[in-house]
Amino acid sequence: MENKTFYITTPIYYPSDKLHIGHTYCTVATDAMARYKRLTGYDVMFLTGTDEHGQKIEDKAKEAGVTPKEFVDRIVEGNRGILDLWKLMNISNDRFIRTTDEYHVKAIQRIFRRMYDKGDIYKGTYKGKYCKPCESFWTESQLVDGKCPDCGREVQDAEEEAYFFRASKYAQRVCDLLTGTDFLQPASRVNEMVNNFIQCEGGLQDLCVSRTSFTWGIPVDFDDKHVVYVWLDALFNYMTALGLENDAHHDLDKYWPADVHFVGKEIVRFHAIYWPAFLMSLDLPLPKHVYGHGWLVMDGGKMSKSKGNVVDPYILAERFGVDALRFFLLRTFPFGSDGNFSNELLINTINVDLANDLGNLVSRSTAMVEKYFGGTLPKTGVAESVDDELLTMAKALRGKYEAQMEKYQFQSALEEIFKVIARANKYIDETAPWVLAKDESRRDRLATLLFNLLETVRICTVLLTPFIPESCDKIFEQIGATACERTWESAEVFGVLHDGVSVRKGDAIFPRIDAAAELKELEALEGAAKNVGTPAVELEPYATESVDFDTFCKSDFRAVKVKSCEAVKKSEKLLRFTLDDGSGTDRQILSGIHKFYEPEQLVGKTLLAIINLPPRKMMGLESCGMLISAVHKESGEEKLHLVMLDDAIPAGAKMC
Ligand code: MSP
Repeated sequence: MENKTFYITTPIYYPSDKLHIGHTYCTVATDAMARYKRLTGYDVMFLTGTDEHGQKIEDKAKEAGVTPKEFVDRIVEGNRGILDLWKLMNISNDRFIRTTDEYHVKAIQRIFRRMYDKGDIYKGTYKGKYCKPCESFWTESQLVDGKCPDCGREVQDAEEEAYFFRASKYAQRVCDLLTGTDFLQPASRVNEMVNNFIQCEGGLQDLCVSRTSFTWGIPVDFDDKHVVYVWLDALFNYMTALGLENDAHHDLDKYWPADVHFVGKEIVRFHAIYWPAFLMSLDLPLPKHVYGHGWLVMDGGKMSKSKGNVVDPYILAERFGVDALRFFLLRTFPFGSDGNFSNELLINTINVDLANDLGNLVSRSTAMVEKYFGGTLPKTGVAESVDDELLTMAKALRGKYEAQMEKYQFQSALEEIFKVIARANKYIDETAPWVLAKDESRRDRLATLLFNLLETVRICTVLLTPFIPESCDKIFEQIGATACERTWESAEVFGVLHDGVSVRKGDAIFPRIDAAAELKELEALEGAAKNVGTPAVELEPYATESVDFDTFCKSDFRAVKVKSCEAVKKSEKLLRFTLDDGSGTDRQILSGIHKFYEPEQLVGKTLLAIINLPPRKMMGLESCGMLISAVHKESGEEKLHLVMLDDAIPAGAKMC
């Protein structure tokens, strides 16, 4: 009989920079799930890859003075690049797709044409706001505080001829999919999607699926001024990698539909709305599940290179070991919610769970078999009631673990294992084998007791394999488990270890870490790594287009004096200024600069404003103009300074 199949994917990562611990988190979770399914007997296809097109990459390559392909090659294949990182982290992906792979490029062109021929893609004009880092278009009403709703950064005005995908046609079917099935998980993410994007004012909007403002993308083959929108290009990776519209692979029938796409919460929108709509357009089966996991954050904020708060997985894996890092990521944070990363937490988890609880259980058990039985343990079967609780827990463990793993609740699955490990450590203290060892007549009982410990270790180790595969191999070696004593089936039965099992005591698998010393060293290492190659000051790119002099002269820049300033309620960023602009009537301007200034710092200052921009509403308040600031980045961090004028300049003085 053919094996049951399981197809699981990570998002494909942007190779615009080195990946950080947040990306590693998602890939490690997917790897644990893939390994778990293999363990339980599934024929697994685990896909990951890189999403290599788009304006951001084109810009980065330009900055670096290389072609976009050279740029991405370096980040994907170069020394300590993405492929190296996944190898280091012991990621067991079966396939790796790059969206610049020839077969994918050709397949996307065919897919785009099929949707166009069907009438689901049509030509129109795009007018609205554009967020460059997210490569997303937005309408004014979708902006939050005038900024990109996904990443909170500034957006630009955009107008271009473009192709659109008729998402509106599929709105009802997508809505039914989200509200009537368990397609999107955790279920708590459903309302946000439906309320914000489908049952919102105007309903689900058609999606702009081509670009003409840059060239680093897959050309629309029947209109090559356009390149395919990076998200349409990227989402289909899940199927081109199996052979959709190409001959490079032939596994579509076998593995599609995917069992689950693991994706971060900010890209759930693309996976839960547009991806199914694209597939509906092509009459293709939909993936069974999309799981939107939380972010690893630092001090409450998402890690990002531009904030300069990224954590380098290489440093951590090299210092603490790959398995310790893998374990920490899945043991500490519930997969569906955000988790606050810190080095303290990492070291504490390693010391408590791995060094103390698991490590000690293994080393105490094997040491006692060695000491009291010369390393080879007879199977004697002298049970006592003190064994009952441990045996009951160990026997029930696989079922409990499986229930959590099937829901992608890695933290809870590990929690079940560690409850049994804690119980086993307590069992050693309760039964005091060292006392029994002094009594020759209790030898058989002592052997049973130690057997129970090795059995518990064995069952826990089988179930830990998806998380810490290399360490589990070492533990199996130490407790002398044969191949058939390491299987999924064997984890359901207590008493599987063979008579005369030989232990091999080895080095501690998870040495204890001196937290204080280690934290100090880590800080120094991370500081040094942050500074490598990061210019102290980064400037915005210089304009390449000129404005004519008349247009420039129409801009009315004036000196304004701050009469009052306050934070706008419910907005993290906006400050509301009441300004004297010399006209005799107060002027109100809103500015998203709260991150940089407290209102009381600014009262009485003389600032520079442009006053003849059309008024704009933000958070229900009208803003009549814009305050001028100087912006740059320093060691990756955004900096902003309001332009402050000499207080001798009167309100209303024109700048020319
Ligand atoms: N290229 C798109 C995905 C296309 S999938 C068809 C993309 N790339 S990304 O590199 O920006 O992000 C890839 C994944 O990494 C996302 O799921 C994102 O949520 C995840 N993470 C990035 N930073 C993260 C954290 N700090 N924490 C957890 N996951 C995070 O989006």
